[in-house]
Amino acid sequence: MPRSGSHMTHLSPSRIPSHVAIIMDGNGRWASARGLPRAMGHRKGVEALREAVRAASECGISYLTLFAFSSENWSRPEGEISDLMGLLRTFIRRDLAVLHRENVRIRVIGDRTTLASDILPLLLEAEETTQDNSGITLVIAFNYGARDEIVRAMRRLAGEVAAGRIDPEDITAGRIEAALDTAGIPDPDLIIRTSGEERLSNFLLWQAAYAELMFIPDFWPDFSRETFRAALARYAGRERRFGGLQPATTLAVGS
Ligand code: FPP
Repeated sequence: MPRSGSHMTHLSPSRIPSHVAIIMDGNGRWASARGLPRAMGHRKGVEALREAVRAASECGISYLTLFAFSSENWSRPEGEISDLMGLLRTFIRRDLAVLHRENVRIRVIGDRTTLASDILPLLLEAEETTQDNSGITLVIAFNYGARDEIVRAMRRLAGEVAAGRIDPEDITAGRIEAALDTAGIPDPDLIIRTSGEERLSNFLLWQAAYAELMFIPDFWPDFSRETFRAALARYAGRERRFGGLQPATTLAVGS
């Protein structure tokens, strides 16, 4: 139902998800369809990313996770990898001050050990500068793969057991969660993938246990605020039962 004086989709605050995660897919196809180089698709993709952060914040979403570079993306041609790394550098350099001013808190998930030496300090700067902000948390999944994240977490826990600090029986779902890159971040309520592909591609496999999945035909560069709001309206109509028989009384913790 449109709000009076606005073309915006009306969203009920009690049905806004707390955490939305997005697989931003289709940059390359967006560019090819226009006879443009793939790099242009990624560049437009960053614009869509900025708009998504703004839209999520406006809608009262507490956490927005964006899959920016997967641990499998290293198999792309060298030129494309360096385009994506360049976009991350520019994004942090250009947008960090604005995001900080807008009270956005930044978290980065993924393997930090194999990144170029100038990328890690940028990511750390983004996290440190914004750590006390109280607005939306933007989680950037960079050099991220869920299996890799789980392997790293298991190694950490196995190390604790080997050192005699915990017993194998002390390993619980809670301890595993605390050992993942997403420690302290609630599980995503909604995972959106653009471009019509219908798979998770190694994204948040542990955390996605009860997430609602939504596949949208638009290529990522075409993802707009209105697309986002329409997805949230569809989410509000979903019934979440978390394995029980009754719908959960509250859909989300989001304000
Ligand atoms: C998928 O498009 C998208 C990615 C590989 C990552 C998303 C990246 C951005 C939005 C830009 C980078 C932003 C930062 C801040 C690093 P695709 O290339 O797989 O598209 P295709 O499936 O059509 O080829």
